[in-house]
Amino acid sequence: MSKSYHIVTYGCQMNVHESEKLAGILRANGYTEESGAPEEADIVVFNTCCIRENAENHAMGNIGALKKIKRARPDMLIAVGGCMMQQEGAAQRLRKKFPFVDIVFGTHNLDDFGALLTRKAAQKKAVVEVPAHEGSVCEEDFSFRTSYPNAWVNIMYGCNNFCSYCIVPYVRGRERSRDPEHILREVQGLLAKGYREITLLGQNVNSYAPADGTSFPQLLRRICEGQGKFRLRFMTSNPKDFGEELIAALADLPQVCNLVHLPVQAGSDRILKLMNRHYTAREYLEKVELLRKRVPGCEVSTDIMVGFPSETEEDFRRTLELVKAADFSSAFTFVYSRRSGTRAAEMEGQIPEEVQKERIMRLVELVNAQTREKSRKYLGKTVEILCEDHDEKRGLYLGRDEYGRMGYFKSTADPVGRFVKIKVEDASGISLYGSIVQESGENK
Ligand code: SAH
Ligand code: SF4
Ligand code: F3S
Repeated sequence: MSKSYHIVTYGCQMNVHESEKLAGILRANGYTEESGAPEEADIVVFNTCCIRENAENHAMGNIGALKKIKRARPDMLIAVGGCMMQQEGAAQRLRKKFPFVDIVFGTHNLDDFGALLTRKAAQKKAVVEVPAHEGSVCEEDFSFRTSYPNAWVNIMYGCNNFCSYCIVPYVRGRERSRDPEHILREVQGLLAKGYREITLLGQNVNSYAPADGTSFPQLLRRICEGQGKFRLRFMTSNPKDFGEELIAALADLPQVCNLVHLPVQAGSDRILKLMNRHYTAREYLEKVELLRKRVPGCEVSTDIMVGFPSETEEDFRRTLELVKAADFSSAFTFVYSRRSGTRAAEMEGQIPEEVQKERIMRLVELVNAQTREKSRKYLGKTVEILCEDHDEKRGLYLGRDEYGRMGYFKSTADPVGRFVKIKVEDASGISLYGSIVQESGENK
């Protein structure tokens, strides 16, 4: 009889992609069916995140909620892995709180999940294995992909930057880059299967440094060489390493989307220094300006944090000023969360929650106003959408444009996986609504 699995994913795209790897491993180990609800699955896997406290709280709440179900169905397996479990002592703390968890693993042994499953099948007691150190880079693609026509491709693991607020370097280990030949083969294979949007993943793709010396911009060039129409995206690029060579590649390669995600974090130089970001607000804005000059029409999106230790009203105002000056197409905004083990956690002047809340509200208001303003400019324009899905309820197809805007439209044929041009008739919210003008000819 076929066995079913349910994976709950928290955190960034890296985790989303790693859950596809977990799904691939589960499928190779006899779990063939995806279960819509954890209550009905034969195994539930939690792929956790610890970037902010609320990500951890969410996961803990949902794991705890399975206690009753596990009591009723003791044969059901519960596995917890990912960044949260890779923190020192986290596995023990979890087992103490939730002794019913069967398998615990970290980020460094996600690829060995199949072996952990086999071990669990042979023993009654829980399998808890969180290696302290990173292993060798995994070159094989055993993902079970669920995001057609988009596909995630990992190009590097880990981070060496140690931004003072960030837990990632502690739970993802040092930087390791995949071999370009393997990346090329994976991308070519995906394009041959009909995927039309490839997103390259790494915590800081500019530090991509494989043994053969290929740079990140060179990798982009090699991926696009000889290829027809598809979209290439990457994330994340660290402003400190973002420069001329990458801008030139963006200008030269039509496949690379004209949207760069460049997290700025803050607008005050004093705070940026405390964050260990290695750039000033002015340097950041100069890079954005250069990018826009060399790549006309290029947009920038960002991440911004408020309430970092010792942030004053004046510091915060500089963030608002920078947001105005940079004219972001969109921004993810966060309240600083104290992460134990990081340098910022030990800093003086932790900001009270009320102040953090008040600042995030002001920031979100500004960002939303800017996004709405950008949306309005779409009205009457023709945009190219890569169709991703069909919304049954609304009877509309949907997909994104190059800049990541969601567009909705009607179609009699099924355009999923194809590029279509729509004329925008309503752009009052964040999404665009329009009618098909033309199906792009170069889909194959
Ligand atoms: N590697 C990426 C970021 C990964 S984390 C980069 O360097 O840009 C994604 C975002 O989460 C960060 O850009 C930051 O804005 C936010 N973040 C990271 N640590 C945080 C913390 N302790 N509290 C609040 N937000 C945080
Ligand atoms: Fe965290 Fe900084 Fe590394 Fe990004 S670059 S993952 S923010 S330490
Ligand atoms: Fe991503 Fe969260 Fe880990 S943001 S790298 S899943 S801590």
